Amino acid sequence: MGEAELRSAARVEELSDSCSDEGEHRLEQRRAEALLGGGAVRIGKQHDKGKRTARERLEALLDPGSFAEIGTFVTHRATGFDMESQHPLGDGVVTGTGEVEGRPVCVFAQDFTVLGGSVGEAHGRKIARIMEMAVRMGVPLIGLNDSGGARIQEGVDALAAYGEIFYQNVQASGVIPQISVILGPCAGGAVYSPAITDFVVMVDETAHMFVTGPQVVRAVTHEDVDFETLGGAGIHSEVSGVAHFVGKDETMALDQVRELLSYLPQNNLDAPPYLAPHSLSAGEQPAPTLEGIVPEDPQYPYDVRLIIEALVDEGEFMEVHAGFARNLVVAFARMDGHPVGIVANQPEVLAGVLDIDASDKGARFVRFCDAFHIPLVTLVDTPGFLPGVEQEHGGVIRHGAKLLYAYAEATVPKVALILRKAYGGAYIVMSSKHLRNDVNFAWPNAEIAVMGPEGAVAIVFRKELAQGAPEQSSARLAELTEHYRSELANPYIAASRGYVDDVIKPDESRKRLIQALDVLREKREATPRRKHGNIPL
Ligand code: HXC
Repeated sequence: MGEAELRSAARVEELSDSCSDEGEHRLEQRRAEALLGGGAVRIGKQHDKGKRTARERLEALLDPGSFAEIGTFVTHRATGFDMESQHPLGDGVVTGTGEVEGRPVCVFAQDFTVLGGSVGEAHGRKIARIMEMAVRMGVPLIGLNDSGGARIQEGVDALAAYGEIFYQNVQASGVIPQISVILGPCAGGAVYSPAITDFVVMVDETAHMFVTGPQVVRAVTHEDVDFETLGGAGIHSEVSGVAHFVGKDETMALDQVRELLSYLPQNNLDAPPYLAPHSLSAGEQPAPTLEGIVPEDPQYPYDVRLIIEALVDEGEFMEVHAGFARNLVVAFARMDGHPVGIVANQPEVLAGVLDIDASDKGARFVRFCDAFHIPLVTLVDTPGFLPGVEQEHGGVIRHGAKLLYAYAEATVPKVALILRKAYGGAYIVMSSKHLRNDVNFAWPNAEIAVMGPEGAVAIVFRKELAQGAPEQSSARLAELTEHYRSELANPYIAASRGYVDDVIKPDESRKRLIQALDVLREKREATPRRKHGNIPL
């Protein structure tokens, strides 16, 4: 039994002697009963699996003593099934308000000890109500999920409850930040509420998300798969992209939620939280220097996270979707105390190309930042979109268009810096001036053109190169390639057209980006009147 439950069990016994007022006595007894959830045996089982109870999780997530419960005494409506014996006071979900670093939030935590945390009518109504309240209060909503899905005994009422939750998720989208933490099973239609929310955090090994479980999969497709391989945190954070963060245990997962909230505004009308940088003034360049991180040879990879580290306050950033589409890095950080969303090609993985997954990842992040007034800082080093039958047939056209659409639609301050390569469609997509990026910088060795030198020379000079002897051709190829790089693909041509606002030295970057963001802080951009655009989903 958890500490909270032990305290409450002792309290039930104490009460018979201590309380003189009958009303108060009854209240205390009911409160203590609610704390016991599904009872000591099931709480023991929960702990044996390395899982905490709903209330223990809320204690770990929220500032000490800040939780105020709502709906403690809600129970399900009786059905033909006998569920009273399971003490379902609260109906398997604890809801209420609390604080994280002194800022209010709304929360719900499913209690797996009560009917497997399954969602029935009353359970669903409690969740929907706290969601609605979060929107009215203008505060983030955090859902702690641990549930066997729709409560079988409640039939269509359970489905109706889910429908209500999904509706509230959609109403809250873009109004308040919504974060889902998966701390156990999340099966069937239950997955769609987290999927609508802005961020999904999963706990390694204990969290599993799937629409249909291993048993059904076996029956329908004859595939033999276990929970972990089908829907574990590894799969969802690296392959499907459903999960944005993974905690190795519950403590780490909940800490990630607290850290994430530190970058986010309370709602779509508030400014993101300012945190004064303690080690540097606005213009100072933090160590390490930015010079020398990008190799001189454009074919050599490097880790763009070193650039991010050197650009942002205290070198600290929180990477989102770190394991998924690693050829694009998206992260929250602060610049001169103000939160920013960073989108950066990652030359260390697939040379930093854009592909289907990277486009989806980037588009969703850009849209989140845009909805919540978080300025975008884009770092460009990409040879273009990934060629190949798999990508074309997988819909790279449709997916790449999402990123393009998201950048063009975003009205938050947008600044971009071309570190090295910016070729082809990827140049346009990665927050180019043409999509109304506000301030564009490039480093002196940046390469901007329709395609990379090798490909371009091979097309334009194909006939000439084919005619010469092999050694002559390769010398000519090297000459033409170098000429293309220095004369056509340099940043000064783009700067002469006004597509790049300034060519800057690497070590001026932090100062110039901060200056630009500062000027843009109060930026207001009108959007055309329409119901909504039609982003290619
Ligand atoms: C009612 C449920 C339940 C459910 C679990 N329980 N799921 N009760 N409705 N959906 C109860 C069990 O009867 C058990 O009760 C207790 O919760 C714990 O379950 P166990 O099976 O003992 O736990 P465990 O071994 O950890 O397995 C957890 C589990 C498994 C993997 C989640 O219970 C399971 O497969 N449940 C069904 C999952 C599922 O198919 N859900 C419906 C999906 S369809 P006792 O009394 O023994 O403690 C769906 C449609 C929604 O959700 C559509 C919305 C659009």
